[in-house]
Amino acid sequence: MNSNVKNELLKRLFEANGGPVSGQEIADEYGLSRTAIWKYVKELEKEGYEIGTIRKKGYTLIGSPDRVNAANVQQYLTTNNFGQHIRYFETCESTQIIAHEEAQNAAPNGTVILSEEQTAGKGRMARPWSSKSGKGVWMSIISRPSLTPQQAPQMTLVAAVAVTRAIEELTGIEPTIKWPNDILVDGKKVTGILTELQADPDRVKAIILGIGINVNQELADFPDELLAIATSLRILMGKPVDRAQLIAKILGFLELYTTMYEKHGFSPIKLLWEGYSNTTGKRIRAVMLNETLIGTAIGISDEGVLELRLDDGSIRGIYSADIEVST
Ligand code: BTN
Repeated sequence: MNSNVKNELLKRLFEANGGPVSGQEIADEYGLSRTAIWKYVKELEKEGYEIGTIRKKGYTLIGSPDRVNAANVQQYLTTNNFGQHIRYFETCESTQIIAHEEAQNAAPNGTVILSEEQTAGKGRMARPWSSKSGKGVWMSIISRPSLTPQQAPQMTLVAAVAVTRAIEELTGIEPTIKWPNDILVDGKKVTGILTELQADPDRVKAIILGIGINVNQELADFPDELLAIATSLRILMGKPVDRAQLIAKILGFLELYTTMYEKHGFSPIKLLWEGYSNTTGKRIRAVMLNETLIGTAIGISDEGVLELRLDDGSIRGIYSADIEVST
């Protein structure tokens, strides 16, 4: 089987938007028989695609399986770079690991790694990230903006704003961002972002944006220790959410905001981030490796650093910490 032909067939079925796609035309283009094309149709049916036939016209796409593969995502995509190259896995240890390898092998800007399941998904501070099969978006994006390593944390905030806006547009839910990049609804986490770098001392070579979104889990899908602190879009909406459509929306906003950031600097992103922030103006506890600070979050600096006014009036910049926000 030639997976290029199968992917092309699927792409055309999506593009035809329910209309017919001629098996004969594809057969002619690829120098194959119509029976060969019919075998690809059967393959796609085995993967869960529902395909109909219209006599003398061709095949039509009636339904797609709930998968985050390239064809399902790309049918919704409106971008030039982000998501034009997608590598898809049924399972993997962590999409971050694959993205690092791909980035080292010169994968282009905007390459996306997606997996239905991660067996060793990782969160910030080397914590495990629960990544059940078919329930969430477990995605790593390779971005290659021209930045110094010091500017890289700003890209985390670009990603947080893009994901928040995409969730908001697709679901109508209004999430907030807890600095730097936890996306919360009603105080519970729906999304975490892990930013990792490949860099020379003076230049970023690649930023690997790892995005984990709890999408279609039901309560029973969460391990006990997460029930009090995490939730999913499905639980919040009372109905499942199309993961492929959500991914395409995120990639769209990510491309938009990355371009905005490269052209106009961090100020427009800072404004957007502050609009979503649940941290600014609040009493917070910032737990860092060597110390814990308590104070009022004033906002973020032009570098994306959280500024905290301590009770003695002094101001401290927080670069990396776990934050607890008081209500
Ligand atoms: C956090 O701790 O909040 C960040 C969680 C990041 C999880 C995502 S899921 C896709 C990518 N692959 C991983 O192993 N981690 C990130």
